[in-house]
Amino acid sequence: MTGIYDNNDFFQAYAKMSRSQQGLEGAGEWHQLRPLLPPLKDIHMLDLGCGYGWHCRYAADCGASSIVGIDQSQRMIEEARLRNAHPRIQYQLCDLEQYAYPENTFDLVLSSLVLHYVEDLSGIFHQVYQTLKDHGIFVFSIEHPVFTSGVHQEWIRDSDGNILYWPVDRYFEPGPRETVFLGKTVTKQHHTLTQILMGLLQAGFQLQAVEEAQPDPKMLHLEGMTDELRRPMMLLVRAVKEQGNP
Ligand SMILES: C[S@@+](CC[C@H](N)C(=O)[O-])C[C@H]1O[C@@H](n2cnc3c(N)ncnc32)[C@H](O)[C@@H]1O
Repeated sequence: MTGIYDNNDFFQAYAKMSRSQQGLEGAGEWHQLRPLLPPLKDIHMLDLGCGYGWHCRYAADCGASSIVGIDQSQRMIEEARLRNAHPRIQYQLCDLEQYAYPENTFDLVLSSLVLHYVEDLSGIFHQVYQTLKDHGIFVFSIEHPVFTSGVHQEWIRDSDGNILYWPVDRYFEPGPRETVFLGKTVTKQHHTLTQILMGLLQAGFQLQAVEEAQPDPKMLHLEGMTDELRRPMMLLVRAVKEQGNP
C-alpha cells in the first residue's frame, strides 16, 4: 500500500526523518550513492519516486539540462514543488508503473528507495532500459533483500530491549510483506538478490557497481546508527545500457 505517503499521520512522521529535514546530507546512504552518479552536467534525467525532490534539485544544481521527477503521492509532489522547485525540473504526479517511458530519451534514470514498493521489478527494468539512451545509466537504491525478508522488519530483542539479532525468513518467497514503518502497517515487496541482479541482466543492462550501504561514519553518533552495521538495509546498484543489447 504505497498510497501510505498520502496518509496524514505517516506523512507527518516522514517529515520528521533526518532525510526529510536535512535533504541528501541527512540520508545515511548518500555518501555511497553520490559516487555512483555519472557527471550530471547537460544530461536529461528521470527520477522514479522522487519524493521531496532532493535528488532532482541536486541534479539541477549540478547543471542537468532537464529533470523529470515522478511520484504517485500528491503530498510528496506538492512538497517537492514547494521545497525543491527549479526551472529545469518538472514534477509529475504519476505512478511509475503507469508512466509512458518515452524511448531513448534519458541519460540517467535514478530511483532512490522506491523499488521495494514495486511487485513487477523486471517489468520496470525493461521500461527503464527502453527509456534510456544508448550508454545511459540506471542508478537505484532499494531496500536490501536481507531487510525486506526481515520478519516484520523488526529486530529480535531480549527482555531488556537489547537487540539480539535480525530475523530473516522465507527468503526465497518474493512478494508482499507487511511491515511496520513510521508507526503504520506498510506493505513492501520482497525481491531476492538474484531477482534484482538477474532482472537487470535479463533486461539488457550491464552491471557497473553493486554496494550494500553502511552508514556514513559521520552519522554514527546518531541514535540507532551503529545498529545499522549489524545487517544491510539498502542495496545500491549502477547499471548501463550498452548498444547492441536487447
Ligand atoms: C522512501 S520515499 C523516497 C523518496 C525519494 N526518492 C528520496 O530518496 O528521498 C519513497 C517514495 O516512493 C514513492 N512511491 C512509492 N511507490 C511508487 C510508485 N509505484 N510510483 C511512484 N512513486 C512511488 C512514494 O510516494 C515516496 O515518495
